[in-house]
Amino acid sequence: MKFFIDTANLEEIKEANDLGILDGVTTNPSLMAKEGITGEQNILDHYVTICNIVDGPVSAEVISTDFAGIIREGEHLASLHNNIVVKVPMILEGIKAIKYFSSKGIKTNCTLIFSAGQAILAAKAGATYISPFLGRLDDISVNGLDLIAQIRLIYDNYAYNTQILAASVRHPMHIINCAELRSDVMTGPLKAIKALANHPLTTSGLETFLADYAKGNA
Ligand code: G3P
Repeated sequence: MKFFIDTANLEEIKEANDLGILDGVTTNPSLMAKEGITGEQNILDHYVTICNIVDGPVSAEVISTDFAGIIREGEHLASLHNNIVVKVPMILEGIKAIKYFSSKGIKTNCTLIFSAGQAILAAKAGATYISPFLGRLDDISVNGLDLIAQIRLIYDNYAYNTQILAASVRHPMHIINCAELRSDVMTGPLKAIKALANHPLTTSGLETFLADYAKGNA
């Protein structure tokens, strides 16, 4: 399973990249705003900075909701760097735009996926990735992991090439569950990725090894 980091924070992106296990980055307008990145040019520059840190797909989201606007914005985003993936919202105008981008060889990430029907539409339009939002489904007492399993089954039934990019991942168990369900990619916060390394027996075992070494070499 590929690991993407879901943030626009450059320090966190660098830290994850330095671990050597990072495959890409996803952002959205809320994550940009959280970092204080505002204004069209600043946002575009920020995408390029991220692309220069991580050698992998970087999702950059359009804010237009009409076909012509999505195409205009998406083509400009895609021209910024080879690794840009145009993130398009799951609306009918977005589906039309994904079909267009697909015919032009521009990679897309269809975002705000909350149902299997939406995932089918995006795959038929040729989306490179779809982003089902696990955590936000969990937030309304719907099991987000069930959606991942359902989409996996459907995509396998028809050998769709669209990759499942599990998003709105909140904690390490989400990551492990996504891997069990054969999600192609997960995108989550640095905290959840780092938490995968933690185990109390690892901590206590290492303490013992180091203490025994120190005793033997005192
Ligand atoms: O990738 C989508 C993600 O940014 C949404 O996460 O935690 O805001 O639901 P969250």
